[in-house]
Amino acid sequence: MLQVGAQPVGNARIVFHHKDSHGPIVAAPPPAKVKPLLSAQAYGAEHPGAKSFIRLARHFLRNTLARKARRPCVPAGECIDQAPPDTHCHGALDCFNSFLTSRGQRMKAVDENINQHNAGWSFHNISESFDSHIQKSIPLYAHGHDLIRRYSDFFLKPDSIIYDIGCSTGQMLLKLAEQHPQKDALKLIGIDTVPDMIGKAINNAAHDSRISFINANVLDIELQPCDMVIANYTIQFMPPRIRQALVEKIYQTLNWGGAFFMFEKVRAPDGRFQDYANQVYIDFKIDNGFSEAEIINKSRSIKGVMEPFSTQGNIDLLRRAGFQDIMTIQKMICFEGFLAIK
Ligand SMILES: C[S@@+](CC[C@H](N)C(=O)[O-])C[C@H]1O[C@@H](n2cnc3c(N)ncnc32)[C@H](O)[C@@H]1O
Repeated sequence: MLQVGAQPVGNARIVFHHKDSHGPIVAAPPPAKVKPLLSAQAYGAEHPGAKSFIRLARHFLRNTLARKARRPCVPAGECIDQAPPDTHCHGALDCFNSFLTSRGQRMKAVDENINQHNAGWSFHNISESFDSHIQKSIPLYAHGHDLIRRYSDFFLKPDSIIYDIGCSTGQMLLKLAEQHPQKDALKLIGIDTVPDMIGKAINNAAHDSRISFINANVLDIELQPCDMVIANYTIQFMPPRIRQALVEKIYQTLNWGGAFFMFEKVRAPDGRFQDYANQVYIDFKIDNGFSEAEIINKSRSIKGVMEPFSTQGNIDLLRRAGFQDIMTIQKMICFEGFLAIK
């Protein structure tokens, strides 16, 4: 696999690993600590940056090999069709940065080990740092999992099926399994589109055969009749045009009396409250150790990718799907947990 490792972009160092080479081909001053932050795989086929990234990576590799063989570097434009025509590859690093900057695609740090593009947030290849990132980012995050764990006593039978949509590394299902050790026939099923998250979740839950995972888009798979569905901070990342269909699917799949736990970032009912919430949320993140730059980079990265509804918008979504019994069970600043019972 062709892979680029970099320290936080800005003073990035670039290293290629190629399947035919014995070691990394270093294309910048030898890095003290190289982390594999970017790879063609990381973008996923659907990412708009994937094609340019792969082309760019090939370009670096070609020029690095050219320099090693004392041949002149080729202009970037010959390898990268969208590169500015006067871009020449004097150094892989300059080329990398100037190319990405010129297209507004340079990745920026949103946490210690997570870099993201403007308006291009992706969950791919961040599973190692994800748990700590989400704990620092969402007020009452662990508390919300605990609350669902406690409420589950009212809904789970010894052989119930439970789905966690957008399960990431599987933390919610681990807590539920711990809460019900005596229910041998429980089926706790996590669903996530990101292979890396599912890989980590499988490792985390290897000790409990009641927990399993499906690597898929929830909209593409059939759900079995179940007693509980959870979607924690997941629906906010789905395009609004598909949300109604998803919540209808959840309503249809739940047994009568079953519970849907939906935790979401929510918008305030008017501009003044939204402004206050934004500022209080920024203070919360600063208190949790994020830098001002990381906070700005994160909010730039989620533009067009995360789209919160208001509290009322979420209640309307649930009602249109058929839920009548809906209650808020947790709220802090701009994050709210709903329990909807069929
Ligand atoms: C913010 S994270 C969820 C955090 C997790 N529920 C928890 O409590 O720690 C959102 C997750 O939803 C996943 N996701 C987004 N859209 C999805 C879809 N259509 N089907 C399945 N998973 C999806 C993402 O890959 C990501 O792992």
